Amino acid sequence: MRTNIEKHIYLPYEVKERITKNAQKVDIHALLKPIDLIDRIKNFADEISHNYINFNLEETLPEIVILHNFPIDFPLPNTPMDHNIDYKQLKFCLYSLLLTAKIFKLFPLTYHGENDDCLYRSVAPLEYAKDDNQSAHGGSRYFPVHMDLPDRPLLGDEVKRIAPAPDYSIFSCIRNPNNIPTDIYILDDILKTLDSSLVDILCSKRFKITTPSSFDVSSRKKEPCVYPLVKKYNEKFICRYDELNCFAVDSEAEHALNLFKSKIDQANPIRISINPGEIMLFSNQKTVHSRASFSPNYDGTDRWLIRLYGIVNSSQKLLKNCLYRNKKHVVV
Ligand SMILES: [Fe+2]
Repeated sequence: MRTNIEKHIYLPYEVKERITKNAQKVDIHALLKPIDLIDRIKNFADEISHNYINFNLEETLPEIVILHNFPIDFPLPNTPMDHNIDYKQLKFCLYSLLLTAKIFKLFPLTYHGENDDCLYRSVAPLEYAKDDNQSAHGGSRYFPVHMDLPDRPLLGDEVKRIAPAPDYSIFSCIRNPNNIPTDIYILDDILKTLDSSLVDILCSKRFKITTPSSFDVSSRKKEPCVYPLVKKYNEKFICRYDELNCFAVDSEAEHALNLFKSKIDQANPIRISINPGEIMLFSNQKTVHSRASFSPNYDGTDRWLIRLYGIVNSSQKLLKNCLYRNKKHVVV
């Protein structure tokens, strides 16, 4: 384990008990549209941050954090085989996700046009998508390396009407019987193996980025915008790389992009496999991630994660500039 990159937090039993009691008391509607609930759990989250987080949240969050010992919903529902999720069965999971966002001073949000505007995204293999390598719902196909929402402003970019990309992805595990990992690559590690002239090219505005297919067709950008693929923010590299949605605009940029991709292919990822009662969060901009192919059974027992996006405080202020609709949770 790389302790400077990957942090583990073990919640004590008494905190788990309090999470259990608090979650039992919360109405499911408050969990699904939690704009008020987010404020109500602030004190509890601050207490956990203060007592159990041994790194400075005000400076910079680690690239990867895994929290252990959250309560597990019981009875554990079957892994869904379609998009109909009965979230009433997942109160501990949803409460724990929101609490984790608040512990790390992240603001939960979702993006209009993706996931039916629902704050939580179910990540489970669906049989109809088994050959789809562009969806988290595929299973038997490798899900290629990417960051989420590559066509959005990154940290430090100017934000006008379009909301920024998420800073963190937060995943809770409902079930993961075969320990299927998420493979995470630290961008700084990849780029230090590339010649600086190639990094300069990756930092230049020579890459077309298309909207991922997880967005409704009507919400995708009509024309792909041209961006730098990589930039420096607070002494670290961040990027908008998505293997399926990035295209170089000239041959020099294409050469740099191909070498960047081959360095990722050669690198050893940090493999994080979470189990029920565990939550993982990782930086969506300082890392890229993928998932290896596996063999789902499509019988209710497959790997099942629930995802929540979070943005840091500084990005939250920028949301004022964006078009968004407030439906008791923030959709931007
Ligand atoms: Fe992703």
